[in-house]
Amino acid sequence: MGKILVTGGAGYIGSHTAVELLNSGREIVIIDNFSNSKPIVLENIKKITNKDFKFYELDYLDREKLEKVFEENKIEAVLNFAGFKAVGESVTKPLEYYYNNVSGCLVLLDTMKKYGVKKFVFSSSATIYGIQKSTKYVEKMKRGIPTSPYASTKIMIEQILEDLYKADNSWKIAILRYFNPVGAHESGLIGENPKGIPNNLMPFIQKVAIKELKELTIFGDDYNTPDGTCRRDYLHVVDLSIGHIKALEKLESSENGVYIYNLGTGTPISVLELVNTFIKVNNIDVPYKIGKRRDGDLDEFYAEPKKAKEELNWVATKTLEDMCRDSWNYIASKKD
Ligand code: UD1
Repeated sequence: MGKILVTGGAGYIGSHTAVELLNSGREIVIIDNFSNSKPIVLENIKKITNKDFKFYELDYLDREKLEKVFEENKIEAVLNFAGFKAVGESVTKPLEYYYNNVSGCLVLLDTMKKYGVKKFVFSSSATIYGIQKSTKYVEKMKRGIPTSPYASTKIMIEQILEDLYKADNSWKIAILRYFNPVGAHESGLIGENPKGIPNNLMPFIQKVAIKELKELTIFGDDYNTPDGTCRRDYLHVVDLSIGHIKALEKLESSENGVYIYNLGTGTPISVLELVNTFIKVNNIDVPYKIGKRRDGDLDEFYAEPKKAKEELNWVATKTLEDMCRDSWNYIASKKD
């Protein structure tokens, strides 16, 4: 069997998926340019798994260097995590987002085509649904109107992948729509620790808990939800990573095609529920106040996860308590 190429393998979701791939006995090659990650993550992946892998420091927009990876390794499939993902930043730096996410993915797909590698797993997002009539998102819903350049890049790439398959039906493509990944590997060796002030809820809570930030502002408590704060579908990053292994196995055992799956728990959790669970499970103070609504936030959305269960035999098994405990364990021990 050939190797699995993991682009962005030093990043948050890429690193956790690299661990699960190695644990399931796969040989992997990682590429990363460390634009939003650190080299020590690679050492920590090796520590967790006690396994080794080849690594190339490169930008996937660099076609020449990327081709070398395909020349030097027998690649069987590609999992693409090399995307920028900060929604707010994408509004101020649209060109960077389109260039890295869309052009980078095009270079990658074109290189795969050149080397006859036609299994691809793409990290998409629930953001592609935009605003729908129901807040429970089902794969068969049409992609919505993008709410940010970041969302546009995900919508565009999904479209590109569908067009690619239409033109050449020898591809096997999985599009995984993530809901809100949180948590960290239970070893505490890898996790999410964004540079600067975090935009997302859990990284913000983590920084308040370690007293790097004074308090959390909850963006609004007058939403149309049971406690007035927004509800999202938070899922543990290790569950999410296992979803990628299942998707890869699905591609290997199925007909050519484009397979789309939501990866979420199917249970909406409010901001207040998440913060209070974090406080309780970790027995730690997280001061918070209620502030104004954040532009663009929706009252709630969550996954209909049935398709992933039926076709991938995947369900999220970790609890909200696991997510909160592992997030704290990682940030409190901060080994990267
Ligand atoms: C965001 C992105 C989404 C992306 C996802 C990745 C937006 C509008 N959407 O989703 O496209 O795929 O991250 O994980 O940015 N909150 C606070 N205080 C904070 C931070 C967040 O109350 O300091 C609240 C927000 O109002 C929201 C919830 O926490 O209700 C979750 O926010 P966040 O973690 O940013 O995720 P999303 O907005 O759901």
